[in-house]
Amino acid sequence: MVYEPNLAIDLLCTHNVITRSLEVAAEHCGQSLRSGELDEASKDGFIDYLECIRTVLTTHHHLETQKVFPYFQNKIPELPVKQLNQEHGKIGIHLIKFDDIIPDLKGDSLIPSLEQLNEALTGINHVWYPHKELEEKYFTVEKIGNLVDKDEMRGQSEIYREFIIERYQPDYLVMPFQFYNLPPKERDIWAQKFPEIFTHKLISTEWKDKWSNMAEFFYPDVE
Ligand SMILES: [Fe+2]
Ligand SMILES: [Fe+2]
Repeated sequence: MVYEPNLAIDLLCTHNVITRSLEVAAEHCGQSLRSGELDEASKDGFIDYLECIRTVLTTHHHLETQKVFPYFQNKIPELPVKQLNQEHGKIGIHLIKFDDIIPDLKGDSLIPSLEQLNEALTGINHVWYPHKELEEKYFTVEKIGNLVDKDEMRGQSEIYREFIIERYQPDYLVMPFQFYNLPPKERDIWAQKFPEIFTHKLISTEWKDKWSNMAEFFYPDVE
């Protein structure tokens, strides 16, 4: 199926990536706390996964705050921009803790850092769920389709694409993270948005050698 760009679909896909990855990370963190250790075999992959959560969530918030909300503010006057931006700030306060937690996970203070991670993820989730639900109330596929004509939609979609490509670094970790935290059907939508990445780089040995550590945290069909 050929994908007709709709900004609401792009936002919704990224919400799904963030929601799933926060759940997966919280689950693995909880399991590790219960067992009192971070499984050596998956440790590097888990740390990469956490770094990707930080990058994707930060990029998503910056995209909304800098591009999406200003663009739609006049088109959707009832959009609670101030509240949504404040919530980005609240999530950011927890996300910034990753700066200390991630190096600590690699060091000796494993249990305290897992406890801090658990606390940070709980704090993020507490704001994230009502936040994304509120956004999804205003940015529905139908509403956005009615508000923005096709040419404008393509133009905006391209602006968002460039914004993401610039910030999803290192691309050989963050792009696979974005694709493979989506179910296959939604992956197809992103494959059409980033055809060069999906058809060549993602499955190339050069990239796969680097992202395969994270594979156990992706959708089960990913090997
Ligand atoms: Fe947001
Ligand atoms: Fe959002």
